[in-house]
Amino acid sequence: MNHINLDLKRPLGQISHNLFGGFAEHLGRCIYGGLYEPGSPLADSEGIRLDVLEALKRLNMPVIRYPGGNFVSGYRWLDGVGPREERPARADLAWGAVESNHFGTDEFVRFCRKLNAEPYLAVNCGDGDLREARDWVEYCNGTSDTALVKMRRRNGAEEPHQVKYWGIGNEVDGPWQIGFKTPQEYARALTEYGKLMKWVDPSIQLIASAVSVWEKDLVERAQLMLEQAGNLIDYLGLHWYVGNPSHNFAEYMATSELIEARLCAYEGLIRALRLDNRIKRPIWIAVDEWNVWYRTHPGYGQPLNNLEEFYNLEDALMTAIQMNAFIRHAHSVKMANIAQIVNVIAPIFTRPEGLFLQTIFYPFELYSRHCGEVALDVQWEGDTFSADQYSGVRVLDVAATFSLGRKQAAVFVVNRSPDKALETTFTLNEGRFGDTLELHVVNGHDLTSSNSFDQPNMVTTSVQAVMGGTKSFTCALEPHSVTVLVGQVH
Ligand code: AHR
Repeated sequence: MNHINLDLKRPLGQISHNLFGGFAEHLGRCIYGGLYEPGSPLADSEGIRLDVLEALKRLNMPVIRYPGGNFVSGYRWLDGVGPREERPARADLAWGAVESNHFGTDEFVRFCRKLNAEPYLAVNCGDGDLREARDWVEYCNGTSDTALVKMRRRNGAEEPHQVKYWGIGNEVDGPWQIGFKTPQEYARALTEYGKLMKWVDPSIQLIASAVSVWEKDLVERAQLMLEQAGNLIDYLGLHWYVGNPSHNFAEYMATSELIEARLCAYEGLIRALRLDNRIKRPIWIAVDEWNVWYRTHPGYGQPLNNLEEFYNLEDALMTAIQMNAFIRHAHSVKMANIAQIVNVIAPIFTRPEGLFLQTIFYPFELYSRHCGEVALDVQWEGDTFSADQYSGVRVLDVAATFSLGRKQAAVFVVNRSPDKALETTFTLNEGRFGDTLELHVVNGHDLTSSNSFDQPNMVTTSVQAVMGGTKSFTCALEPHSVTVLVGQVH
């Protein structure tokens, strides 16, 4: 028997809805042929695919990062504004492509506003410079009559774009990056970029490019960043991609332990460095690229491709496991951006004539829709498994939230058993569940079930109303499933 105990008096922290953010890069068919396809019968007058917009609205993303990724380290934002016919095409060295620049800052901000999402722009800290970065902030957010602000107005945006989130560089710790930086080099650059960008607009929030290589330098990088720019930066950006290259389901599912270890370590590191440097202001974690990515990963130095990964059911479980970790660490993780949003390692897959929703779409939709504002310190016990170097890993992976306004609890559970339904009791420490509870379940026939244009509904969400009204509720959680229990608490 498995037990999940909820105590509404044990909050872990406020949840930022920015945990359910996205990321769009100029890469493959994410922008062109993905969210932007002028001339398509499915697009609006600005070229935005309406079917993509509708699907994205279901994901309820509050923030979207742009324009890269590796792409940004060779990007000139000025190339992507102004009359389209005058925009230069440029070689994109990060992805071996030609960038037309037909979609740029103004188009992206308008796209975000259609989704009710905040734009998050990353500046070029690769082959770009300080001047470009501060100019971009001024172009977007300036209100004085400067040349850049006038240019924005001429380009159709009378009012400032009010871009709140700004990243400084991308994966600067990776040798694959244009303008890779040592810890010392990046800490210096970060300080100067951050200083100037905040001089232009002190209200912006800055995200540093902290870790994408988890084997080397990460402590030294954090130390130098906080020593030098601790009073400027607001978030430290972490990236990771996970996968199942050895086709070992148990090992794949135990990736939860690695994610937990990384978040705990990084939280501790920030705490220690804030103490050491007497930094009173908070510095949050932004996991501003995360996802499953291994089938189409080119590997450093390998031929590039469009990263069009087709996801299966086990990847949907992994997506939920990652979001559970973000909820459990909601006191320190204040933003997370699934990479990416369309076609490129993404929950939505398009062709000119339509789209289908990948398996990972469904858990993301459920979490983003039902997550409350307070993370609960949920306690659970039950069956365990061993894999890789980990033993005693609980088969269920659990997170829980509460919404004060709605008086609603949501419990997010991944059953990692490949073949067993697990009888599970959900118990409230105090109070009772409302009369009716909703059970939302993401599942499919087997672990390799996958959606496609021909079979779009092999993995989807089903919903069931069940009787509550008591302090405890018991049900059998389906094998290889994600279940979200939603109900009021009285
Ligand atoms: O999301 C794909 C790529 O993964 C991004 O461009 C880069 O930041 C990361 O390595």
